[in-house]
Amino acid sequence: MKEELNVLIQAQYPLIYLVTSEEERSEQAIATIAQMKPQRRVYIWTVTHGIVEFGQPRNVTQHNTVSPEAAVEWVIRQREPGIFIFKDLHPFIDSPAVTRWLRDAIASFKDTQKTILLMSPVQNVPIELEKEVVVLDFPLPDMGELNEVLTQQLEQTRSRRITTETREKLLKAALGLTRDEAEKVYRKAHVTASKLTETEVDIVLSEKKQLIRRNGILEYIEEDETLDSVGGLEELKHWLRQRSNAFTERAREYGLPQPKGMLILGVPGCGKSLIAKTTSRLWGLPLIRLDMGRVYDGSMVGRSEANLRNALKTAESISPAILFIDEIDKAFAGSTGSADSDGGTSSRIFGSFLTWMQEKASPVFVMATANRVERLPSEFLRKGRFDEIFFVDLPNNQERKEIFQIHLSKRRRDITRFDLDQLVGICEGFSGAEIEQALIAAMYEAFAQDREFTQLDIIAAIKSTLPLSKTMSEQVTALRDWARQRARPAAASVAEYQRMEF
Ligand SMILES: Nc1ncnc2c1ncn2[C@@H]1O[C@H](COP(=O)(O)OP(=O)(O)OP(=O)(O)O)[C@@H](O)[C@H]1O
Ligand SMILES: [Mg+2]
Repeated sequence: MKEELNVLIQAQYPLIYLVTSEEERSEQAIATIAQMKPQRRVYIWTVTHGIVEFGQPRNVTQHNTVSPEAAVEWVIRQREPGIFIFKDLHPFIDSPAVTRWLRDAIASFKDTQKTILLMSPVQNVPIELEKEVVVLDFPLPDMGELNEVLTQQLEQTRSRRITTETREKLLKAALGLTRDEAEKVYRKAHVTASKLTETEVDIVLSEKKQLIRRNGILEYIEEDETLDSVGGLEELKHWLRQRSNAFTERAREYGLPQPKGMLILGVPGCGKSLIAKTTSRLWGLPLIRLDMGRVYDGSMVGRSEANLRNALKTAESISPAILFIDEIDKAFAGSTGSADSDGGTSSRIFGSFLTWMQEKASPVFVMATANRVERLPSEFLRKGRFDEIFFVDLPNNQERKEIFQIHLSKRRRDITRFDLDQLVGICEGFSGAEIEQALIAAMYEAFAQDREFTQLDIIAAIKSTLPLSKTMSEQVTALRDWARQRARPAAASVAEYQRMEF
């Protein structure tokens, strides 16, 4: 990134927009670039102090440059090569005068070695400037940079030497944090344990989880369930098992591409979310949930885009990882149809998400689930976007049996006490979730009467359940018809489904 920024500045790009919340880190990077030939002076504008030269005390400010218009005008008047950083100009940039001044500045910069650099955590580019501006993301620190932070911390606390392995674990644990955050996390781990060794990796990790959660968009999910707790869906499981080592160096050497992601469509309550979560254990990769609903933020222009950008940036820096987007259809509902009720925000978000999926080089595997296909934009389903689109249908006989087995065993009951075939026979059209619920209902019934539950309790519970495939039969049928033609069935046998009727 520093490379890219350097190239842009050397190539005399007049206007660069750097999206970052790490001001100090970015300033340092820019200062380094400014030292290269031809040397440039660096100035920083803030709405509190106006323009101050980099490295100078804040009170040594250029006269009368607090207003953004005056500041840009001042920049235009400068003759020497320079980089002019404007911090947090985003709330002012929409004003006609500011936009105009910036355009004037750009026009006057030809062959002047001058660059205006807008630095802000939020991207807000008025249409008038869209063609002139280059937007860059300042990435989170990599292992190398975290190593500087860790080394500093170890030196400051005069800690014992640590092995290369421990060092690597401590560094990895902090991936996904900003430099400041990493510093804080290492310091806290050290204060808590008064040492920084392998045992403190967990402290660093749990601190990181909290920090990542803070903005409410991303969340670390820890899932103890394994694939064995998912009944049926053999095709899907097979696909996942085959790719257990897909993110290893060995797979790259073999010549395999990195899997990009999968979309799981299906009837509600049939294990879509469940299987997504268990993949994390299977692959040994962290599972990060992206809450698309929380990405949207109407409080400020560009806010939603910034949220998504930051979330994806974090996911990338933690990678290899699984990015779990549950019920993605809900998030992108607004981007289909002509009535753009939200001023086009969801289409823009959708667009940025697709672009990211297309271009991402980092090993982030997207696992998305959906159950309302008609709400999904068709670009989404195009071949090649995801590695595979699976359809999770209502469980067939064999699958329902497995689901009973799994949930009875989970509740420490001896499955031989039950006639599973009979149960399976009367709950045709039930989803896995409905089977589980019926079982729980039966248990409550018996528990209230202070006895163990029996076959009869389960039968009664099943009989009193009206499954979704009945209450919403039209939607379910429509989804199945649609998905059968376009997605790969997650269960073993297709023939079986074709015989099923509702
Ligand atoms: N195939 C299955 N095997 C075992 N348990 C299942 C299965 N399907 C569903 N369940 C049970 O039902 C619960 C709910 O399923 P899950 O949340 O995965 O459904 P979903 O397909 O994501 O539904 P939705 O579309 O409503 O989000 C699971 O946590 C699990 O306990
Ligand atoms: Mg779900």
